[in-house]
This record gives sequence, C-alpha cells and structure tokens, in this order.
Amino acid sequence: MKSGTTALRIEGLAKTYDDGTVGLDALDLEVPAGEFFGLLGPNGAGKTTLINSVCNLIRTTGGRISVFGFEHDSMEARRLVGVAEQDPNLDRFLTVRESLVYHGGYFGMPADAAAARADEMIEVFDLQAKSGTRTSKLSGGMKRRLLLARALLHEPLLVILDEPTAGVDVELRHDLWRYIKRLHQEGTTILLTTHYLEEAESLCEDVALISRGRIVARDTPDGLKARYDATTLEEVYLQTVSTALPIAMAAETGEEVSS
Ligand SMILES: Nc1ncnc2c1ncn2[C@@H]1O[C@H](COP(=O)(O)OP(=O)(O)O)[C@@H](O)[C@H]1O
Ligand SMILES: [Mg+2]
Repeated sequence: MKSGTTALRIEGLAKTYDDGTVGLDALDLEVPAGEFFGLLGPNGAGKTTLINSVCNLIRTTGGRISVFGFEHDSMEARRLVGVAEQDPNLDRFLTVRESLVYHGGYFGMPADAAAARADEMIEVFDLQAKSGTRTSKLSGGMKRRLLLARALLHEPLLVILDEPTAGVDVELRHDLWRYIKRLHQEGTTILLTTHYLEEAESLCEDVALISRGRIVARDTPDGLKARYDATTLEEVYLQTVSTALPIAMAAETGEEVSS
C-alpha cells in the first residue's frame, strides 16, 4: 500500500435504529492504511454499529463510508474488508473447513484457491483436529479462532475485529494478539475494538474513544495520555468516555445507554 493512503474514511455517519435509538451521531473517522487502530468505548457507545455499517451488515441513515477509496457497498470494498464479528455468526451445519471454503467462494475465489487457503488458515489457527467438525460443536475459543480464520481467508487489506478476545481464556487471548500483531507487521490495516485497555495501549498506534455514537478523542496512546495528564490509557478512558454519569453507570452494570 502506498503511504498516505486512507484505508477507511467515514464522514457524517449516522444510524438511528427503528425503535429510535441513536447508534451513531454524525460520526467522522479516518484510518490510514497500515495502521493498527483501536476503537474504544463503553458498552452501547456505537462500536458495533460503526463496524456493521462499514461491513454492510446494517443500513445506515446518513453519511458516507469508503474503503481504500471505494464506496463501502461496492464489490471492491467488500473484498478489501474482513470482519470478525462480535457475535459469532457461524453456520451450525457447516464444518470448520466448509465454513472457510464457502467463505472463499462467496468472495469470488476459485474453488482450489479457496480450499488451499482454508487449509492454510486451519493450520495457522491450530484447527486441524476440528477441521471436519460442525461449527455448532466447537468450544467458544475454537469459534473465536474460526471467526478470525474466516475473516482473513480472502486476504483482506482492512481487518476489523470486534472484541475478538471477549470471553476467551488467557492462553488463546495471547495467541490471538500474537497473530493479529503479525498480520499488522505484514502491512494489514487493523481496526480493533476491545475492553482490554492495557493491550490496546501496547498494540494500537492510534486510538479513538467513542461515546454515545460520537468520537470524543482520537490520538496516539502517548498523545492521549499527555493531553489528559494520565499515566495509562485506562485513565484517559475513565476521564473521557466514562465521565458522564449515565455512561459510567451503564459501563458498571454492563447495560447499554440509549438516550
Ligand atoms: N438492533 C438494534 N436495535 C435498536 N437499538 C440497537 C440495536 N443494536 C444496537 N442498538 C443500540 O445502539 C447503541 C449502540 O450499540 P452498539 O453499537 O452495539 O454499541 P457497542 O458495540 O459500542 O457496545 C446502543 O444504545 C444499543 O442499545
Ligand atoms: Mg459491540
């Protein structure tokens, strides 16, 4: 990728759900190509709504999104993005290997290339023993591995990971971080959401804090710490996205804010 290219450009993105809940409120965001980018914020802030909008999983109510210069709903843009969704959405009747091969087919890969790439991903993510197992029989950790393998199958340039390590054990979490890091070193742009702020601080080159459907701060972890006179990203988080009482309460109770 040429330097200076923008992987993701979001302008005035708005999403109001059918029940009137505002998911995103005129949100602007740019992620340069090749960056390891973290989108951090409490439950209900709008992270998944943003990701689902970029990946055409929901219909937006306003604004524009482009991926490497292509409109987000174009075939070009779809092929450039790989997403591991927050809620594992695996076809329960497919085996691990079939899930991967079919995904390749969906993205226009020739059958033999999709099969070869599926086997490669199975090895990388240590899924060999489960290759012929139906996804409904996988453990939570195995599902996370498969989701990531599937997100990467068609070799996207922008990989979006929505809480990829939520609910996985420490060992797998470390494995996943290591793999994501390598992917980034190979030049892939990463957009990550996570509640592991310490890891976000060490992994992400740039961080945006989101609250109530808006970006409230965006900078390098060091830049944010300097601006908020904080020693950790967690302190910045607590000062920014968690300061308003309803949000702080919602974060504590794990409830979503809908105002
Ligand atoms: N399908 C839906 N219908 C109505 N409201 C929704 C729906 N999905 C999400 N929301 C609301 O949109 C807001 C943002 O949610 P979400 O994007 O899931 O936040 P996050 O991923 O940051 O936790 C929340 O108030 C949430 O309750
Ligand atoms: Mg979410």
